[in-house]
Amino acid sequence: MGKKLYIETYGCQMNVADSEVVVSIMAGSGYTSTDEINEAELILINTCSIRDNAEQRIWGRLTAMSHLKKKNRNLKIGVIGCMAERLKEKLLETEKLVDIVVGPDAYRELPGLVAEAESGHKAVNVLLSREETYADISPVRMDKNGVSSFVSIMRGCNNMCAYCVVPYVRGAERSRNTESIISEAKELFDSGYREVTLLGQNVDSYNFESGSRTINFSDLLEEVSGIDPLLRVRFSTSHPKDISDDLLRTIARHDNICKHIHLPAQSGSSRILELMNRGYTREWYMDRVSAIRSIIPDCSLSTDMITGFCSETDDEHRDSLSLMEWAGFDFAYMFKYSERPGTRAARKYSDDIPEEVKSVRLSEMISLQNKLSARSKRQDLGKVVEVLAEGFSKRSKEHMSGRTSQNKVVVFPAEEVRKGDYASVVIERCTSATLLGKLTF
Ligand code: SAH
Ligand code: SF4
Ligand code: F3S
Repeated sequence: MGKKLYIETYGCQMNVADSEVVVSIMAGSGYTSTDEINEAELILINTCSIRDNAEQRIWGRLTAMSHLKKKNRNLKIGVIGCMAERLKEKLLETEKLVDIVVGPDAYRELPGLVAEAESGHKAVNVLLSREETYADISPVRMDKNGVSSFVSIMRGCNNMCAYCVVPYVRGAERSRNTESIISEAKELFDSGYREVTLLGQNVDSYNFESGSRTINFSDLLEEVSGIDPLLRVRFSTSHPKDISDDLLRTIARHDNICKHIHLPAQSGSSRILELMNRGYTREWYMDRVSAIRSIIPDCSLSTDMITGFCSETDDEHRDSLSLMEWAGFDFAYMFKYSERPGTRAARKYSDDIPEEVKSVRLSEMISLQNKLSARSKRQDLGKVVEVLAEGFSKRSKEHMSGRTSQNKVVVFPAEEVRKGDYASVVIERCTSATLLGKLTF
């Protein structure tokens, strides 16, 4: 009987994919993962530092875990991921509960570090790497549906957006070996998966030298889509400064490359975009959206927006709203600016927009997006869509839930459809988050 590992994951999809790598590495030294925190001998918390509230949540979790150590004296607790990288040894000083601190590029060292902790020493490794991509490690899938999975294609980020902590906690950008990506996607397909999402902070800058050939993201996408017409391919995140017409044409050419692009705008004001060091203007962003609309007419579009960035005026806030309205985003993640220590914005600009103003701007943005999202769903009424069934709906075993190529959630009476099947559904109604329909043949 191996020891039991309980892993809890916060933050972005990249962390979800990393946790699967970590479980695989720990399995190599006899740990099996459990869903029962009370029976664990090792707890790992894979953390996020993107905004202050992300870190506060993790501090809260650590405090809540202290009673577990009283019950089980052998229990070891490790903090891994982005917050481990940002705070390093400080985590051990401020939180006596923590035994192990491991950054995102040092997961191969985990078994040794856990052994060190077991022998009574605190263990830390937060070295970042220029090469590590964990290409050879087969992640242990922890998703519950067995239909869609993440595949990491690169790590780190070279962009240095002024507000962002990612380049500091994830290191320099590096692309994973193309062959290992393709073989991982093939294995997923062979074991029944029907959708892969290729992950990177800026997938458009994927670049891998293979012999005399240089493989860019468009080439990679084409190769993954060639595995099987029944394998859907998604990707995230695209960067407005780098998304090319060549890539858009590749997406348009293949039915199984999903017609959805997550294209974070962050702001609609060119002055703020410049301060953010995003590398594009409002006009450039609009040009990219126009290119998407003309090359892939049925493409859905989502975005990330930040409100209340340093020195943002009311007019500049309205520029963000007008850009959202113009683009008609189907979906958006919206955040109040949160200053991150060490970033360029923290060093050079003052976080001068009062909290109340940030809150008002954020709620204006959210109510606008609610309208845009509702409109996007209404436009689907009466359409026949192809849905990849992911499993029973939350509410009933008689209904299936799945997504369209455009990444919209659809619920429909299951009848004979099983998870992993493609179903043709006519959309009859919608709620705020979901399209509802019935099977059509
Ligand atoms: N690589 C992706 C985003 C990664 S972080 C990209 O460039 O689009 C996810 C989102 O968190 C960002 O798009 C941004 O909207 C938000 N974000 C990042 N840093 C932030 C900060 N300091 N305060 C508020 N939101 C932030
Ligand atoms: Fe952060 Fe910018 Fe890199 Fe995205 S592209 S991870 S926002 S630095
Ligand atoms: Fe958070 Fe790290 Fe992702 S900071 S958003 S978990 S890359």
